[in-house]
Amino acid sequence: MNSPLDSRLGDAMRDASSRAAGRNQGNRPGATVASASTLRNTAGASMNGPRTTGGAGLNAPPAIEVRGLLKRYGSAVVHEDLDFEVQHGEVISLVGGSGAGKTVLVRQILGLEAPTAGTIRVLGHDLSKVSGRDARLIRARSGMLFQRGALFSAMSVFDNIAQPIRELGHVPPDLLHDLVMLKIEMVGLSTRHATKMPAALSGGMIKRVGIARAIALEPELLFLDEPTAGLDPQASEEFVDLIASLRRALDLTVVMVTHDLDTMTSLSTRVAVLADRKIIINAPLETVAGIDHPFIHEYFLGARGRRALQALPPERRARLPDAALAPVPADIAR
Ligand SMILES: Nc1ncnc2c1ncn2[C@@H]1O[C@H](COP(=O)(O)OP(=O)(O)O)[C@@H](O)[C@H]1O
Ligand SMILES: [Mg+2]
Repeated sequence: MNSPLDSRLGDAMRDASSRAAGRNQGNRPGATVASASTLRNTAGASMNGPRTTGGAGLNAPPAIEVRGLLKRYGSAVVHEDLDFEVQHGEVISLVGGSGAGKTVLVRQILGLEAPTAGTIRVLGHDLSKVSGRDARLIRARSGMLFQRGALFSAMSVFDNIAQPIRELGHVPPDLLHDLVMLKIEMVGLSTRHATKMPAALSGGMIKRVGIARAIALEPELLFLDEPTAGLDPQASEEFVDLIASLRRALDLTVVMVTHDLDTMTSLSTRVAVLADRKIIINAPLETVAGIDHPFIHEYFLGARGRRALQALPPERRARLPDAALAPVPADIAR
């Protein structure tokens, strides 16, 4: 890996690192964002797509555009005629029953699995038409936190976070150290945890390290698969705050598979519902709650769903369907 692009990436990271060092001295509050765009400009240099950072204009292509997707395993059809669009800067909550195909959809958008038919464009690039090298670059602009196996159990926290950076090629050890420590701080952990093994961490800390690895290359797109599953309510709430602050700091577009209504109401710009092998709606939560579909009735208009919806701010609550406003029995646990 010694092409001109790789060495430019090395320069960018060195640059990012010195900015990060400045930030640590408290004199460069905007350093993270600056370093992100430096990395992105470099990583995107060989691709013909439009610039995608910082407030994409009206004519910019969507961050993600899926058209007419068909995905089959043998005779089992998971997705059929599926369309899905995500604009830059959005936080999409992807919901649907167990086995509906949420994870498989995310894997196809990441290029980890090929569709049976249909097109998937990511950051302006048709995934079926890009070269292997550009596919890797697009993947480097996406971070992901998987539902299971968030970390390599045989690697330290440091090595887990360093892994996507090392995959890009040789990075000088002192630069790698600075980049990894910066990521550990960005996710709200102490750098003294760097040498620990995953087994020594709590569930909430493991998720944070998973996020640190997902943002190691300061991506534009972040995919989260059930990020708060298995966390207690307080850890979930802290995690939601972390995602919100990283989104602002890194100007991220986020697609998050979640069952957690509180996460959804506080973070998402739109909610996409995967049912009957398609995205049946991708709209603001209060619009989704008014759609006549069995999954939506059960999920959003049951007691827990109503409780979460009724906690929306008054101006959003005013747009809810009447059925969402029915009183919630006091003894329903969250
Ligand atoms: N590699 C695979 N081979 C065969 N079937 C698969 C494979 N991956 C997923 N599936 C099937 O696709 C469907 C959707 O799975 P998934 O996307 O994991 O659902 P979920 O919405 O719960 O994330 C399930 O029926 C699952 O069994
Ligand atoms: Mg899944």
